[in-house]
Amino acid sequence: MNKCNYFSVLSAVGVALVMAVAPVHAQQAKSVAVASTGNTEVFDFFAREAVKSSFRSEGIVKTSVLDTDETNQACSAADVAGKPLDKKRAKEIEAMNLKSVKWPADGKFVGDWKEGEALAQSGRGLTYSDDAKTPNGGNCYNCHQLDKKEISFGTIGPSLYNYGKLRGVTDVNSPASKAIIEYTWGKIWNSKAYNACSNMPRAGHMGIMTEAQIRHLVALLVDPKSAVNQ
Ligand code: HEC
Repeated sequence: MNKCNYFSVLSAVGVALVMAVAPVHAQQAKSVAVASTGNTEVFDFFAREAVKSSFRSEGIVKTSVLDTDETNQACSAADVAGKPLDKKRAKEIEAMNLKSVKWPADGKFVGDWKEGEALAQSGRGLTYSDDAKTPNGGNCYNCHQLDKKEISFGTIGPSLYNYGKLRGVTDVNSPASKAIIEYTWGKIWNSKAYNACSNMPRAGHMGIMTEAQIRHLVALLVDPKSAVNQ
């Protein structure tokens, strides 16, 4: 949804809209005065309310999915402004996200690539029609190529075909592979730790994937035996 549309609609309807809503919500009434000063916070408030009221919780999906954190807000503001985040702010956001990465408690980064493949090719879970007991898929195929045999994959993200091979991983236990394996874990756990406004979901950070699932996804990408590296 384009926020600018909300802004222009709101500006056009202006005071009339504010007057209509004001008696219902005290907080909105309070913002009437601010609206006349052209404070964009007021327009942001109405835009958020308009979006929120267009959705309802259904099944396992709650409207809380619309809640944003500091990272989302900074990146949305940059989008609205039509320019990327300034470098210093981007670094701060990346550092904050990197701090939140949970590293494997037992030091084991690499699981079973076959389980990782099933996860990467599954888009199940987190949908209103999914049962709460449905394990979440990784949905990676929707943005990344992973395997030569795939008939259909998305291209929002770069191809991950031969990911480990191209990065020289010949033995997942060798010290030479450590850095790339750690990065792969961190990237899947929280993509914004390395790219502040990444379009990639923060799988671990947002509770989409478990630690065990991320271990399998790392295996899919780095294990020399994995379908990704053939
Ligand atoms: C909505 C699209 C989207 C989904 C879903 C997605 N990614 Fe990504 N991914 C991206 C984009 C875009 C990039 C490149 C920009 C960046 O690095 O943030 C990326 C980058 C990556 C990278 C870094 C590649 C490199 O060369 O450094 C890895 C690894 C990765 N994704 C793995 C995964 C895995 C595993 C999954 C599934 C759990 C996944 N992605 C799901 C969009 C997505």
